[in-house]
Amino acid sequence: MSTIKISDGIIKDDVLVVGVSIKSGKGALQIESGDLALDTKSLIATLNDLGATGKSDEVIRIPGTSTRLLVFTGLGKAQSTYKDEALRRAAGAAAQALAGNSSATFALPAMTPAAVKAVAEGAGLGSYLFDQFRGSTKSAQKSPLKTITIYSSLISGADAKALAHHAQIISKYTNLVRDLINTPPSHLTPASFCSMVSDAVKDAGGSSVGLKVSVMSDTQLKSKGYGGIIGVGQGSANPPRLLNISYTPKGVKASKKYAFVGKGITFDTGGLALKPALGMEAMKSDMSGAAAVCAATIALALLKVPVAIDAWAPLAENMVSDNATRPSDVITIYGGKTIEVLNPDAEGRLVLADALVKAQEAGDLDGIIDVATLTGAQVVALGTRTSAVMTNNEDFSADFLAATETSGESFWPMPLPVELRQSLDSPVADMANIGERMGGMLVAGLFLKEFIADDLPWLHLDIAGPAYNESKPHGYTPVGGTGVALRSLVEMAIAAGK
Ligand code: BES
Ligand code: MN
Ligand code: ZN
Repeated sequence: MSTIKISDGIIKDDVLVVGVSIKSGKGALQIESGDLALDTKSLIATLNDLGATGKSDEVIRIPGTSTRLLVFTGLGKAQSTYKDEALRRAAGAAAQALAGNSSATFALPAMTPAAVKAVAEGAGLGSYLFDQFRGSTKSAQKSPLKTITIYSSLISGADAKALAHHAQIISKYTNLVRDLINTPPSHLTPASFCSMVSDAVKDAGGSSVGLKVSVMSDTQLKSKGYGGIIGVGQGSANPPRLLNISYTPKGVKASKKYAFVGKGITFDTGGLALKPALGMEAMKSDMSGAAAVCAATIALALLKVPVAIDAWAPLAENMVSDNATRPSDVITIYGGKTIEVLNPDAEGRLVLADALVKAQEAGDLDGIIDVATLTGAQVVALGTRTSAVMTNNEDFSADFLAATETSGESFWPMPLPVELRQSLDSPVADMANIGERMGGMLVAGLFLKEFIADDLPWLHLDIAGPAYNESKPHGYTPVGGTGVALRSLVEMAIAAGK
């Protein structure tokens, strides 16, 4: 984990990162080093000789004069003020490219405290390596940056410390989400997910920071009537769990209380509706929502945000066996609704239904947010980098979308058309688990909506595409688990606590 600090003192690191952009018109390059004065003339000539374009994700390094390496990270088209997310990505791309170096100073055109924070987050988020499962190739892996200095004279003292701390927490817990996702299903079962998260809570300070963890075993789930989690998990030798992390702010009265519910399928084979082999390996990421809500809750505790959070992770492995749920089986969700399981591959909504009902049981919430890699239809509709938001409350959704402007994560609102609801009617049970195929993401949202109290503000985040990067690294996003949704959940709660 890299250490992040903010300074405008003498540069001590042996690597200096600055931005390069393309001016409109003839497309001349421009060096953007923010508060750091640089003699750019000869550098532009060098960049031109090297064929630099200044496009985002282009990282060029040259031997430096005052530092060992001078690194140029592309910012795209020149702007008078760069978007925070453009800075976050440029810092992240440089950090990813700098693996193998121990420390770097980032001097980028950040003109507001929010922009400085974005640079710090980008650098932290780009510094990630997953090498736990390397054997003989482990030593060949390049370690991420250990220390990151953000060069800025905009903020100093306690403000700079707080900002660096925020970026550090965001990076650390995004990296926890990524680790959980990347951990292979041979090593990440419902039970081991619980122990990894419990360890993370302990490491964060546990009850001393207001965090409490509890886990329901399969025996308890069975006896208390969690038919969704049990039904999905019953085909696996690795029994299901329901994990709960609660965060109660210390020393202040919480201004609001939210529940987070994350889909935690540690592996989704599709069950008896077996998925084709091509692409099934990506289904180790089907617990991304659970990882995001758990890590976000720990991050909020460490950031001392004055909002109470109750996070729930229904965990199960969707496997094939003589004990697996059959298409046409009827299960009973916690609280009594019956579901005809027409397709055992539509399992996420079943485990979520149990957890959503449980999360609302106490009746003291101001809002509830579920996060899930729920449908392939999400990926078809919005691609691999934009997640969907569905809601029963436009104000809540607007607040969340405003928070995504701060976090830099791409979310897009999607409707829940009432006319699709009847496609979920079942001839034998209260509802079926699949409906109309067209608009499958919305149908899944409508299914979940049936488990939400009418007057409780609710958001459903479908992150199926963005949760897992199967192509190349970009910006601050590595290959594999991305950690998406954590930042927006954290920013939403921070804004709600203000
Ligand atoms: N985990 C999948 C959804 C998914 C697909 C996530 C691609 C990430 C990438 C989910 O459990 C699933 O299988 N959904 C089915 C639902 C269908 C049977 C109604 C789907 O989308 O095909
Ligand atoms: Mn599935
Ligand atoms: Zn799934």
